[in-house]
Amino acid sequence: MARVLSGVKPTGKMTLGNYIGSFRNFPEFQDSNEVYIFVADLHALTLPIDPNFLHSTIYDIVSFYLAAGLDPNKTILFRQSDIPEVAMLNAIMLNYAYMGETAEMIQFKEKSAKLNNKAIGVGLFTYPILMACDIFLYDTDIVPVGEDQRQHVELAHTLARRFNSRYKGEFIKEPRAVSPKVGKRIMSLSDPLHKMSKSDDREAQKGIIYLQDDEKTIRKKIMSAVTDSETNVHFDPINKPGVSNLLTIYGAMKHMEPEEAEKLFVGQNYGTFKKAVADAVMEELGPFQAKFNAFRSDEAKLEEIFSIGAKKARESAAPVLERIMKAVGIR
Ligand code: TYM
Repeated sequence: MARVLSGVKPTGKMTLGNYIGSFRNFPEFQDSNEVYIFVADLHALTLPIDPNFLHSTIYDIVSFYLAAGLDPNKTILFRQSDIPEVAMLNAIMLNYAYMGETAEMIQFKEKSAKLNNKAIGVGLFTYPILMACDIFLYDTDIVPVGEDQRQHVELAHTLARRFNSRYKGEFIKEPRAVSPKVGKRIMSLSDPLHKMSKSDDREAQKGIIYLQDDEKTIRKKIMSAVTDSETNVHFDPINKPGVSNLLTIYGAMKHMEPEEAEKLFVGQNYGTFKKAVADAVMEELGPFQAKFNAFRSDEAKLEEIFSIGAKKARESAAPVLERIMKAVGIR
């Protein structure tokens, strides 16, 4: 039985990218593994965020987990800030990562550049170390994430190895990232050279499908997705990024490779193809949204799930933290 862990940070309205790259992939693990899925609320503080928005988005995320099919009796569902052990481990692990390493992280570079390299919180810089601690604290083997988070998991892996070799033992499990075969990087519909991102505040929002958009809006966004001046539905991410992104979304929905999906649309025009993509997305998102709304309406129940999850998560975290504290000599 492997330990599987992942999280999503409550920093914006969740997108179809989050759904395909993460939410929908979690339930498949829960029958034959020990699964830990959490709301990365501390991570949300690494960029300025409105407190009311943050508070509400925490409940959105746990509702999305439940709507995707995570069962709190099988999966340990929790909120990061309910686990004080993670802050202690972070205080320790900050000393084993190098400034040069975190400075090299693509997300740090992109996000700090957006701030014009001014007033960058230290937390944004050390973010991947806290993320490594989330992973280490539960002896995680496998971390299911989209493409954009792989670099952070690789840094966690490097950190674990460094720590283990310094203290000569297997104190920290060396984690591995896994991404979905189709859809590890969903692109914006209006700007298919850029990732579909929940923290995107540009005009590009019309290219982002939000999981809480209504059906009409979702269909409209897909129908107006940027394609190209050709007329053939063909998978070629370099020369046809818009069409290829739509084929990827279609493939993800129908559990097939985009190259295989392409064959279904030979000789069809872009309008017909886009309609098929919209139908495929709504077929899955419609029921998902209905379940989300039902879970989201009962915050007391969600708090109860968090409190049970926190208790179980802390039981796993405590001995791991103790082991690491002993290794370095403070216990
Ligand atoms: P976050 O909240 O940015 O993203 C959540 C998940 O969604 C995936 N994702 C995508 N997948 C495909 N296409 C896209 N356009 C797309 N956009 C986002 C992300 O890869 C991710 O899997 N640092 C993490 C949260 C975190 C975490 C952890 C994850 C904190 N600690 C420990 C795993 C393990 C984050 O900000 O993800």
